[in-house]
This record gives sequence, structure tokens and C-alpha cells, in this order.
Amino acid sequence: MNKKVKILSTGHYVPPKVLTNFDLEKMVDTSDEWITTRTGIKERRIVEPNISSSDIAAEAARNCLNKVNIDINEIDTIIVATITPDMFFPSTACIVHKKLGGKNEPAAFDISAACSGFIYGLTLAEGLIRNGKSKNLLLIAADVLSKFTNWKDRNTCVLFGDGAGAMLLSATDDEEDAILSTYLGADGNYDELLYIPAGGSKMPATIETVEKSLHTIFMSGKEVFKVAVTKMVEAANKACELAGITTGQIDLLIPHQANLRIITAVGDRLGIPQDKVFVNVDKYGNMSAATVIVGLDQAISNGRVKKGSIVELVAFGGGFTWGATVIKL
Ligand SMILES: CC(C)(COP(=O)(O)OP(=O)(O)OC[C@H]1O[C@@H](n2cnc3c(N)ncnc32)[C@H](O)[C@@H]1OP(=O)(O)O)[C@@H](O)C(=O)NCCC(=O)NCCS
Repeated sequence: MNKKVKILSTGHYVPPKVLTNFDLEKMVDTSDEWITTRTGIKERRIVEPNISSSDIAAEAARNCLNKVNIDINEIDTIIVATITPDMFFPSTACIVHKKLGGKNEPAAFDISAACSGFIYGLTLAEGLIRNGKSKNLLLIAADVLSKFTNWKDRNTCVLFGDGAGAMLLSATDDEEDAILSTYLGADGNYDELLYIPAGGSKMPATIETVEKSLHTIFMSGKEVFKVAVTKMVEAANKACELAGITTGQIDLLIPHQANLRIITAVGDRLGIPQDKVFVNVDKYGNMSAATVIVGLDQAISNGRVKKGSIVELVAFGGGFTWGATVIKL
């Protein structure tokens, strides 16, 4: 059994509330000028307090399924990539199944690979479909990092935004295959350069952990920056090699959107002209796992890529984790 994989649809959702650099100027000692020149970010989207990852994941999934008129009850597998699950259990995937009105009994589970989560999820999805375990798979990436941001820490609070993206994949006997390659990597030795220290089994919530803001993101920006560029370039090259193409054949590169300087450096080192490098970091900041799938859905919706286009997604995140995939639309 070696099925081909088809991408039937993509979708996304970002919350309506916009937080601009000028809003942040009123919250911490920063400036629009500093944020713009160091990161390229001008604004980001933030959920309201009563909204969680499963809410925006369900919105992205609806957007994706509605485009092809497919009902949740036709889906046999739901995977949600998130590091901001609604709760430890049940999984956000199970909650999304309920929110979409599912009455069937699909496999449903979450995966945790930080900002590389969508590409990790796509690799799993590919495996499940190719070996006949899944026929219609809904892959969602959703994160609400605003809920785990220390809004008093200017080093981190300017970087992140909330968002969700979804992709519907199915098994096909067509000649055409949508996933030309995937490549994943990780190095746990970098675990404390980008992390949320408390809230898990190592350091469950106490008054002290809350007082010290240990339930929020800690990051060593400069170190993350260097490894991010190196590993995204390596992963992107590796995925091209596995797909049997050169970077020159890529119609659009969609890199993880953490910082415009990282995006530009990755494009340059891969020898891909900047007009073939997707950028939306100015409007959304770093949406963690959702970033690359939101980018892909936007690129499809605005006609930047179309049927037959070769697109490469590449991401990097906490762990550290990284990954890249080459797809043919
Ligand atoms: C975080 C990041 C934007 C900082 O940019 P940088 O050019 O490396 O800046 P530095 O770390 O050298 O900081 C320079 C100064 O700006 C200050 N600064 C940090 N955040 C600031 C802010 N929002 N506003 C104003 N000043 C700020 C720092 O305190 C530092 O001051 P100091 O020199 O007095 O100590 C950058 O390192 C980065 O993007 N790193 C990668 C982040 C990332 O990709 N994270 C997610 C990966 S998935």
C-alpha cells in the first residue's frame, strides 16, 4: 500500500483584535522604530481572554472544510499541532472535533513541536495517508502565545501573535503527488534557549511560579537567531535534495515568520530571490506552529501560487526543532 497524497484544501483564521507597535509603546519600554528595524513586525493579532486554541483551530478548520464542502464527519483523522493546548487533556484535537459538531469517531490527537509543528504534523499526515491508515485527514496548527507572553518583558512580548491554519489531505490514486518531500530535525540540547519553564510536571503551578512569571515564554534571542538561520537553510536544502529539485525550481518559499532579518537571511543563503520569499511577519508577528500554513493559505487565496506551483515551507522553533517540506499544489 503506497497511496499518493492530495491537498484538497487549506484555510486559516486570525483573531480580529490588532495590537500595534504603538499599543506596545504604552505597555513596555519600546518603540515602533526599534521593533520595525529589529524584527519587521508592525502589528499582530491577539485573542480575547475567553478564546482558546481550540476556538481559533475550529475557525481555521471550518474555513478549510467549507471551501470544498466537506463535513467533519467525513474526516477520519484530526491532528492539531500546538504548544498552547486548551488544557493537558483532552487534546485540543478532541475539543475541535466536538466544536465542529463531529458525530463520527476519528483518530484525534495533538503534537508538540513548537513553531515547526505544522511541518512535523504534515510528515505524520503523509505517513498515515501513504500507508492506508487515513483517507481524509485534517491537519490544524493553532497557537495563542499571547496567553503565555510576559507582557512586561520587552524582549519577548513584541514578537508573537495568535493564529490558526488548516489543511485537508486525502489519499488518492492519481498520478500526481502533492508532497514531494519532508525533512525533520531537532536538538534537545537547546531546550532552555526558548521555553516556558513552569506548568508541566517538572514545575507545576505554585504561587511562587506565578509570582515569578514562570508560565510565560523565556527566550535568548541572539542565540535563537543564529541557530534558526543555520537550521532553516540546512532543512530547506535537504528537503529540496530529497524532492530531487534545486532551490531555483521553487515558485515560493514560505519560511517561518519570526523576524524579517531571519527570513531575508534564509532566502539569501538559499539563493532564492526575495520576490519568491513569502512575508507576512509585518502584519501577524510569529504565530508559532500556525505561521507557515497561514502563509500558504494566504498565498493560495491571493493567487501568488496556483495549481502546479512548487512551494517550500521551512520552520524552526523551541526544542530546538526544525523542518521543511516541498509540496506541489
Ligand atoms: C529578539 C531579537 C529581535 C532581538 O534583536 P537583536 O538585534 O538580537 O537585539 P539584542 O538582543 O542585541 O538587544 C539589543 C538591545 O535591545 C534591547 N531590547 C530588547 N527588546 C527590546 C524592545 N522590544 N524594545 C527596545 N529595546 C529592546 C535589549 O535589552 C538590548 O539592550 P542592551 O544592549 O542594553 O542589553 C532577535 O534576537 C531575534 O529575533 N531573535 C530570534 C527570535 C526568534 O526567532 N524567536 C522565535 C523562534 S521560533
